Amino acid sequence: MKPPSPNSSSSSSSSSSPSLPRKPRFSPYLFTLLVFIFFVAVLYGEDLACIFSQQLQLNLAPARPSPATQKKWEKLPFAIGKLKEEGCDVFSGRWVRDEVTRPLYDESDCPYIQPQLTCQEHGRPDRSYQYWRWQPHGCDLPSFNASLMLETLRGKRMMFVGDSLNRGQYVSMICLLHSLIPDEEKSMETFDSLTVFTAKEYNATIEFYWAPFLLESNSDNAVIHRISDRIVRRGSINKHGRKWKGVDIMVFNTYLWWMTGLNMKILQGSFEDEVQDIVELSTEDAYRMAMKSMLRWVRKNMNPKKTRVFFTSMSPSHGKSIDWGGEEGGNCYNQTTLIQDPNYWGSDSRKSIMEVIGDVFGQSKFPITFLNITQLSSYRRDAHTSIYKKQWTPLTSEQLANPVSYADCVHWCMPGLQDTWNELLFTKLFYPY
Ligand SMILES: *[C@@H]1O[C@H](CO)[C@@H](O)[C@H](O)[C@H]1NC(C)=O
Ligand SMILES: *[C@@H]1O[C@H](CO)[C@@H](O)[C@H](O)[C@H]1NC(C)=O
Ligand SMILES: *[C@@H]1O[C@H](CO)[C@@H](O)[C@H](O)[C@H]1NC(C)=O
Ligand SMILES: *[C@@H]1O[C@H](CO)[C@@H](O)[C@H](O)[C@H]1NC(C)=O
Repeated sequence: MKPPSPNSSSSSSSSSSPSLPRKPRFSPYLFTLLVFIFFVAVLYGEDLACIFSQQLQLNLAPARPSPATQKKWEKLPFAIGKLKEEGCDVFSGRWVRDEVTRPLYDESDCPYIQPQLTCQEHGRPDRSYQYWRWQPHGCDLPSFNASLMLETLRGKRMMFVGDSLNRGQYVSMICLLHSLIPDEEKSMETFDSLTVFTAKEYNATIEFYWAPFLLESNSDNAVIHRISDRIVRRGSINKHGRKWKGVDIMVFNTYLWWMTGLNMKILQGSFEDEVQDIVELSTEDAYRMAMKSMLRWVRKNMNPKKTRVFFTSMSPSHGKSIDWGGEEGGNCYNQTTLIQDPNYWGSDSRKSIMEVIGDVFGQSKFPITFLNITQLSSYRRDAHTSIYKKQWTPLTSEQLANPVSYADCVHWCMPGLQDTWNELLFTKLFYPY
């Protein structure tokens, strides 16, 4: 078993030099500029995306899939039964302290966790975030059965496509499964945008494909992807989609990278065009465009009788403690308790994006299983990596003096919250009703 290489992480690793000079069409000026961008990216670390997010506060209720759509879901592949309380909304519930069955694995027992997510290794003083179990109001979640999951994946491919948050869920899934597989029977390899975990005896792969917008964009480089002026190309889903063909269980996400301001730049032609034809769309319209592209791709390329498609909703960040009535200037740093207000949602554009998702999926002819993790995760201000992660460049003395300034309030410690996302995925895969 090879340990995962740092280059397979979502962050700009300082050990990986950009191989820009190989491409002859770069002028020296452009090269210098790109190197500059690279260093700025490294300097500012990852995950500043949320800082630019705008606060759109729309108050409309998200649409739900219509009954007609749900009818078509009756014979979903991989389903083995019904929940005891049929129709239970597993996403509506509360967090319960559980020091008996949590965590589902130990940080040190899963070598696949990227160093940006190993909070204990990086000095987090408490483990309280590891001992919470999600309890739906209307039913109990079935316990995650790793051997059932692996048997189901026999001869199959499961793939996660999206951004670093989806990569986190991917790694969590591997952590939940890998201990059943002997060392010589498993491996993990990265080829550009694609990371593949193989369980040899099962002839199964669990894969992650980096495509933060799903569509082609100027942020698609899996190692050096931090570009401030983000551009997404309209109608380009096949650029990545051709690598997704033949997958049996698909898990998409996309959200954070769209949050660059009120508008998003959309390229009409190709990135090779000498003069680029770029229009600006509102974040919601741009996001809707991507959702529709994804659905069209799924309809053309996946068989609803054999395959399953999941979509994970927006992962909330906790960058401003005033959102939950905390002190001004604070964030997720030094938070060890949950937000208690059951109506807490947070003050960013998540509401309007949720509406777009509800709209688009409500009209979908293909059964997409929606993992609605936004609300349940929004209580978890305690579960972020904060300052307890690998830093790619040394911190300055100003930063060290003020930990709030460099806390990562976007990503999640592992084990932790994202294991719950996979318990919900497990539930919806096998007991979708
Ligand atoms: C887990 O799944 C396997 C089948 O793959 C089954 O034999 C076993 O009984 C299950 N375990 C539990 C605790 O349900
Ligand atoms: C292994 O799985 C792939 C699908 O991922 C399938 O095409 C192939 O036939 C399988 N091979 C064997 C030996 O079962
Ligand atoms: C962390 O929060 C506690 C209160 O919950 C406070 O007493 C302590 O001073 C804080 N520590 C830092 C370093 O901010
Ligand atoms: C997701 O869950 C939240 C909380 O239960 C709910 O308010 C919202 O309507 C759900 N979104 C969709 C699109 O179903």
